[in-house]
Amino acid sequence: MTTTFPAWVVRKDDGANTAALEQLDTSTLDDLDTTVRVRYSSINYKDALALHGRPGVVRCTPLIAGIDLTGEVIESRHPRWNTGDVVTLDGAGLGEELHGGLAGIARVNGDDLVTVPAAFTPVQAAAIGTAGFTAALALLALERHGLTPGAGPVLVTGAGGGSGSIAVALLHHSGYEVTATTGRPDRLRARLTALGATEVIDRAELESQTRPLGQQRWAGVIDSAGGSVLAGALAALRHGAPAAAFGLAGGTQLPTTVLPFILRGVALLGIDSVRTAPTLRQQAWDRLARDLDPAHLDGLTRVVPLDQAQTAAAALLEGQGTGRTVIDVTQEGRTP
Ligand SMILES: NC(=O)c1ccc[n+]([C@@H]2O[C@H](COP(=O)([O-])OP(=O)(O)OC[C@H]3O[C@@H](n4cnc5c(N)ncnc54)[C@H](OP(=O)(O)O)[C@@H]3O)[C@@H](O)[C@H]2O)c1
Repeated sequence: MTTTFPAWVVRKDDGANTAALEQLDTSTLDDLDTTVRVRYSSINYKDALALHGRPGVVRCTPLIAGIDLTGEVIESRHPRWNTGDVVTLDGAGLGEELHGGLAGIARVNGDDLVTVPAAFTPVQAAAIGTAGFTAALALLALERHGLTPGAGPVLVTGAGGGSGSIAVALLHHSGYEVTATTGRPDRLRARLTALGATEVIDRAELESQTRPLGQQRWAGVIDSAGGSVLAGALAALRHGAPAAAFGLAGGTQLPTTVLPFILRGVALLGIDSVRTAPTLRQQAWDRLARDLDPAHLDGLTRVVPLDQAQTAAAALLEGQGTGRTVIDVTQEGRTP
């Protein structure tokens, strides 16, 4: 039996990608082991690119957009999942090479699903989404390298955005001293301080650091920006300190030299949330459940209906998104 559902679909039209809200039926979906009734998805930077036809995310067309989802299992051949289980999924090819989460129904690989932790409601799990999952992966990577709360201040770049905001809150609740850097210090200082940053600095301060080595300030970095912001952060890391890098909001170039690595033993740790193994997925969600205050999450989240996903995504492309945007895919646009 087929069921119809709404979905944001990216199609190639005259050589260019365009996205539109369409009605599909379940025969369109990938032949994977678990079917989920999606309640919420979210807008990450990659979703903004896909919904506005930009290259670099959608690898085949037509494709349902949306790199994460939260909802209930309605059918599964996977041994772990039963009808009614409340689950969440980040990355794993969703919205890039597999039909994604900006849709009423999704069919996914059960291996990649995680149970929504009891600490969070489904809407809070969606607010975490890929952004928060990636922030948690970054913190776990820094700690595997030896970072501990007593080591000194940890810098978060792109702190006003989705992953940056959650990184600030997660680090703070984990006992770290946090320096947040943003391109909008006047507008976002109070908000970032409320999330737990003890210091908020202007992104321009990092961008103007053109030498590869500067004053040693930070014990670690969680970076969503790349470009000259990451280069400036590397120049100001303390001896032996790690930087976890996952973003390119400020560009794909890295204008530095080998000096921070060979004279200060700085480590650059790359984070790829998409191809994360199931055990590490679970570890990241366990960490979020332990150390992300749901009240902080609610304070940085807004919920919009499915038909407004494309409009909501535009701000992220302009570097003006703040916090997290959850998409209520049940269409009515009710805030639960
Ligand atoms: N590797 C992975 O697995 C992975 C996973 C998740 C996200 N990402 C990447 O991480 C980045 C952030 O994702 P997101 O979903 O958190 O996006 P987002 O909500 O749009 O946040 C990005 C933030 O970056 C800052 N920014 C904007 N333009 C900038 C510029 N020119 N230079 C420096 N900083 C700039 C802004 O914060 P301020 O105004 O506060 O500076 C913006 O809010 C994106 O590049 C995304 O593709 C990668």
